[in-house]
Amino acid sequence: MRVFKLILAVLFIAVPLTAFAAEKKANSIDELAKMYDVSSCKACHAKIYEEWEKSYHAASLIGSPRTMATIASAVKDGMMKEWTKSGVKKVEDIKVEHMLSCLKCHLPQIKDATDAVAQEIAKAAIDGAAGDEDARAKLKKVGINCLVCHNTKALVHKWVDGEPEKGVVYGNKDGAHADPKYKSMKKSPIMKESILCGQCHGLGPNFDLANPTQCATQYGSYLHAYVPSGGSETCQDCHMHKHKTGHFMPAYRDPSQAKSAVKVDVDTKAYYTFYAPAKGHIPTAVLTVKMISNAGHRIPDG
Ligand code: HEC
Ligand code: HEC
Ligand code: HEC
Ligand code: HEC
Ligand code: HEC
Repeated sequence: MRVFKLILAVLFIAVPLTAFAAEKKANSIDELAKMYDVSSCKACHAKIYEEWEKSYHAASLIGSPRTMATIASAVKDGMMKEWTKSGVKKVEDIKVEHMLSCLKCHLPQIKDATDAVAQEIAKAAIDGAAGDEDARAKLKKVGINCLVCHNTKALVHKWVDGEPEKGVVYGNKDGAHADPKYKSMKKSPIMKESILCGQCHGLGPNFDLANPTQCATQYGSYLHAYVPSGGSETCQDCHMHKHKTGHFMPAYRDPSQAKSAVKVDVDTKAYYTFYAPAKGHIPTAVLTVKMISNAGHRIPDG
C-alpha cells in the first residue's frame, strides 16, 4: 500500500504541466485573453502578426460574420429549444461542455476557462448577432492565435511527445527564444504536417461530443479522397506557401487561389438535326463538361 502511494505521488509529480492548465482557470473573456496574450509577438514577428490579424483564425468567434450568428442560433434555437435534453433553459445554465459543440475548434482554449466564460461568450454572440458592437468587440479579444497553433495544438500524440509545456513556443526547431514569457523554442513533429490543421478542420461528425455537431470536414476529405488519388501537398503547402499567403491562410479571399481552384473544360458538338418520327427534325447539341477541382479536399465546405 505504502509503495503504491509512493508510485502515485511520483507519477503525479512527473505529469508534465500543460501550458496553461497549471494556472487558475480564466473566469472572464478578459482573463482568458490575458492568459493567451500574443501582443508581445508583434514586435519581433511583425509580418506574420499582420498576416494573422487579417485571417479568419484571428476572429474565429465572428467569422464572415456568419460564425457569430450561427453560434447565437446554436444557443437560442438548439440548446434552449430543440435540444430538449441539453439542460439549458437560460444562458446561466450553459456550461463549457455545451459550448464545446462549437468551441472545440473555434476556441479550443475554452478548456482553460470556467462555465462563466462559456456563458459570457454565448451572451456576446447573441448580442453581437443582434447588432451590438461592444459584444462583437468582446468576441474579437479571443481567437485562434499564435499560442493555439504554436503551443496548445502543436503536439498530438501525448503518449509520445507529452503535453505542450508552459513557456515554450513550438515551431520547426529547438533553441532559446527571445520572448520573456516564452523563453524556449521546441520542435513540433507536426508543424509542417496536415494533421496540425486537421485537428480543427474536421473529419465528419464530432462523435466525441455528447451531442455531435458537424461543421468543417476538410481533413476527412483530404485523407480519404485527395491523398488516395495521389495528392501529395499539405494544407501548409497550398494555403501558406504556394501563393505566398503565409499566416493570412486564405481560401476564396485570395484571387490567385480562387483562380486555381477549379478548371472547367467545355467541349461542344452541334448536330444539324436529330430526326424524331413524330416531330420531324430537331436541332441538337452534345456538351461534354469536364470540371477538375484542384483543391486538396471537397469545396465548398463548412
Ligand atoms: C524579442 C523578440 C521576439 C519575441 C517577442 C517573440 N519572438 Fe518568436 N522568435 C524570435 C526569433 C529571433 C526567432 C528565431 C530564432 C532562431 O531562428 O534561432 C523566433 C522564433 C519563433 C518560432 C519558431 C520558428 C521556427 O523557425 O520554427 C516561433 C513559433 C515563434 N518565434 C513564435 C513566437 C510567438 C508566438 C511569440 C509571442 C508569444 C513570439 N515568438 C515572440 C523572436 C521573438
Ligand atoms: C484550433 C483550430 C484550427 C487550427 C489548428 C487550424 N484552423 Fe483553420 N480555421 C479554423 C476555424 C474555426 C476557421 C473558421 C473561422 C471562422 O470563419 O469562423 C478556420 C478557417 C480557415 C480557413 C478559411 C480562411 C478564409 O479566409 O476563408 C483556411 C484556409 C484555414 N483555416 C486553413 C488552415 C490551415 C492551413 C491550418 C494549418 C496550418 C489551419 N487552418 C489550422 C480552425 C483552425
Ligand atoms: C470540428 C471543428 C469544428 C466544430 C466542432 C465547429 N466548427 Fe465551425 N468551422 C470549423 C472550421 C475549421 C471552419 C472553416 C473551414 C470551413 O469553412 O470549412 C468553420 C467554419 C464555420 C462557419 C463558416 C465561416 C464563416 O466565417 O462564415 C460557420 C458559420 C461556423 N463554422 C459555425 C459553427 C458553429 C455555430 C458551430 C457549433 C454549432 C461550429 N461551427 C462547430 C470548425 C468547426
Ligand atoms: C492556424 C495555425 C497558426 C497560427 C494561428 C499561427 N501560426 Fe505560425 N506557423 C504555423 C505553421 C503551420 C507554421 C509552419 C509552416 C511551415 O514550416 O511549413 C508556422 C510558422 C511560424 C514561424 C516560423 C516560420 C516563418 O514563417 O518565419 C513563426 C516565427 C511563426 N509561425 C510565428 C507565429 C506568430 C507570431 C503567430 C501569431 C501572430 C502565429 N505564428 C500564428 C501555424 C500557425
Ligand atoms: C492542393 C492544394 C490544397 C490542399 C492540399 C489543401 N487545400 Fe484547402 N483549398 C485549396 C483551394 C484551391 C481552395 C479553394 C479556394 C477558392 O475556391 O477560392 C481551398 C479551400 C479551402 C477552404 C475554404 C473552404 C470553404 O468552402 O470555405 C479551407 C478552410 C481550406 N481549404 C482548408 C484546408 C485544409 C485544412 C487543408 C489540409 C487538410 C487543405 N485546405 C488542403 C487548395 C488546397
